[in-house]
Amino acid sequence: MKTYLVTGGAGFIGSNFIHYMFEKYDNDIVIINIDSLTYAGNLENLKDIEKRDNYFFVKADICDKEAVKRVFTEHEIDRVVHFAAESHVDRSIKEPEVFVRTNVLGTAVMLNEAKAAWELPDGSYREGKKFLHVSTDEVFGSLEEDGGYFYETTPFSPHSPYSASKAGSDMLVKAYMDTYKFPANITNCSNNYGPYQFPEKLIPLIINNALSGKKLPVYGDGKNVRDWLYVRDHAKAIDMVIEKGRLFETYNVGGHNEKQNIEIVNIIIEALQEMLSDDDPRKKLVSKDLITYVEDRKGHDRRYAIAPDKIKKEIGWEPETMFKEGIKLTIKWYFEHEDWMKNVTSGDYQKYYDDMYGNR
Ligand code: NAD
Ligand code: DAU
Repeated sequence: MKTYLVTGGAGFIGSNFIHYMFEKYDNDIVIINIDSLTYAGNLENLKDIEKRDNYFFVKADICDKEAVKRVFTEHEIDRVVHFAAESHVDRSIKEPEVFVRTNVLGTAVMLNEAKAAWELPDGSYREGKKFLHVSTDEVFGSLEEDGGYFYETTPFSPHSPYSASKAGSDMLVKAYMDTYKFPANITNCSNNYGPYQFPEKLIPLIINNALSGKKLPVYGDGKNVRDWLYVRDHAKAIDMVIEKGRLFETYNVGGHNEKQNIEIVNIIIEALQEMLSDDDPRKKLVSKDLITYVEDRKGHDRRYAIAPDKIKKEIGWEPETMFKEGIKLTIKWYFEHEDWMKNVTSGDYQKYYDDMYGNR
């Protein structure tokens, strides 16, 4: 029976990962979720599993060394799956410092406490321990529109405070692997979408605005390209890298599903129009006329595209959910979770939205 320490498990990908793991392993694993519950952390995302005997929640900041140490002292942790981060690029442009604190310092604390708990007197590590650092393709920078892919060997060239802080965290993990032979893997994944994603990110923001007849803000010329992956496929990749990944290796995770932002917005509008019944009053609100081109994001990366060749060849992982299917599953989830959306968009979200989009 393995015990997983998941950081940031109340966020978008973390909560999807926890759901995936309990569906797959049921009572054969224990999960401890450490999360400080920032605006992005939401225990509603885990409501259906909170009563499980093999799930524990610890409300703590990953920068709080003592709190993290306590978790390692109280539990025999076998795997750390490190999601906790500030994750939104636009916020990082406005408030970079919190990104450096959580993403860099927080990762250093997690590494240090895991090392202290797992290291043996001769400098080797206790059997079967692994630290999986969840990172992003944004560390590699931006690709030309007409070609090229990010490989594991692509040099880092981050442009936003978010991606720079994630690159810093990746470098720390690499340093621990090189210096201390610390048992870890890194995954660098492309854009995720799916249930429980906070509506500051493109896809849930467009779904939510379209359903209420609000403007659909498209940055710049709308032709920036992202490589979209259904979140459950990412959760599966992480589990497979934990089980089969060679220690000290990095694996790129991506969907080979490149789309311009404007294409994504059009696909969502068309899917909403198709999926809403004729007597649903929201159907009349959803329209391409809502598309509004707004001032571009500062330092906006033009194109991301992952080459997932290594993870396919070594581990046998491939994306399973085609975008056409994944986007419908996602929209269906938001239809069925109107209260979730209402709760996360009340209060502070309105202020965030006005600050971010008011003068755009
Ligand atoms: P998210 O913003 O939805 O969730 C982040 C979680 O971390 C929240 O629950 C938040 O409360 C928690 N957290 C933040 N600061 C913390 C702190 N100091 N201490 C403890 N908990 C803290 O993020 P996400 O989209 O789920 O991303 C998760 C991870 O995956 C991040 O590391 C991100 O860089 C990476 N990633 C995300 C994507 C994507 O498309 N969303 C793609 C590739 C990689
Ligand atoms: O590539 C992986 C990364 O994907 C993750 O590391 C990040 O945590 C995650 O937030 C995501 O970053 P992006 O900046 O690519 O995602 P976002 O949803 O913010 O934006 C996607 C694209 O859509 C981007 O080109 C900016 C554009 N956009 C975004 C918003 C919120 C718009 O045009 N309008 C918007 O309102």
